[in-house]
Amino acid sequence: MSDAADLIDLRSDTVTRPTPGMRRAMAEAEVGDDVYVEDPTVRALEERTAELFGHEAAMFVPSGTMGNQIGMRLVCEPGQEVLCDADAHVVTYEMGAAAAIFGISTRTVVSGLSGRDGGRGHGRLDAQQLIEQVRPKDNWHLTATAAIAVENSHNRGGGLVQPLDQLQQLWDWSRTADVAVHLDGARIWNAHASSGVPLSTYGGLADTASVCFSKGLGTPVGSVLVASAERIATARLWRKRLGGGMRQVGVLAAACTYALDHHLPRLGEDHEHARLLAKRLGVDPATVETNMVVLEGVEAPMVAEAAKARGVLVSQVSASRIRLVTHLDVDRAAVDRAGDVLAELLGR
Ligand SMILES: Cc1ncc(COP(=O)(O)O)c(C=O)c1O
Repeated sequence: MSDAADLIDLRSDTVTRPTPGMRRAMAEAEVGDDVYVEDPTVRALEERTAELFGHEAAMFVPSGTMGNQIGMRLVCEPGQEVLCDADAHVVTYEMGAAAAIFGISTRTVVSGLSGRDGGRGHGRLDAQQLIEQVRPKDNWHLTATAAIAVENSHNRGGGLVQPLDQLQQLWDWSRTADVAVHLDGARIWNAHASSGVPLSTYGGLADTASVCFSKGLGTPVGSVLVASAERIATARLWRKRLGGGMRQVGVLAAACTYALDHHLPRLGEDHEHARLLAKRLGVDPATVETNMVVLEGVEAPMVAEAAKARGVLVSQVSASRIRLVTHLDVDRAAVDRAGDVLAELLGR
């Protein structure tokens, strides 16, 4: 077993540790009481993020889960439903929060544009498919569809980037149909770095969007919800009700601002590392759109354990699927070493 310091952790981009520069920025942050909306560093981050995504306002939240759940609540009443992909984070990894906390129903479709995994779909948005599933608000029997949630990039889809034409089609239709669009943009930065589509374009195709700083951008914590000023005013009430009111968290917002300045421009490096890993492991590089590589058809528990014994941590997405995620704390040498270890284990 390797020393902890030698471990190459490819389980997720959430495992990154704040860099010395980020820690300095945190230590030097000017702070105030954020529940009173008086923390200047938080306010600056909120204003900057709102502007980046072309929205009126924004609110700092402790997690992407809180950003998503409040975001969906802003556009969906209890007893109504949010429609989304079956592999979406909001229905897979948020512990039924929409139902448990807000009385929001969720309904899923297995998204169908991906040819991967026998065409079963990996979350790639098919606007028409979703539109056909929407249920009206004026029917005495049906659960009304108030919103559609879209994830970009898609986590369980192996970091795939949603096609802009599909996002646009969904958005254009939603304007005519009184259905809102929520964007789970935990990794919207990776989508942007990969596709070149401006963040403001992505933001302009959603009513509410939650974006995370604690994934590829490398902060210890922090997400921001963007929306209209009116919606963000309501969001502040929900955040406080959920126990998410925070005080002198400029120290955390400073890390996010630092990440925008220093880590957003380097995301392409992580994507390049993911492509290198894919190539080394015989995975079609075309399936690698951002910072994730998915190994299909492997004995996941066995591979994960053997890799760990040799100093490489990977995550098991299912019994036959392993996910590798590149990030700030994995440099080129580590990518090469991890590639060697996994190639040997998999006989590739
Ligand atoms: C796509 C996506 N959305 C939302 C989240 C939730 O973020 P958090 O862990 O900060 O609640 C994650 C976490 O990994 C994610 O991958």
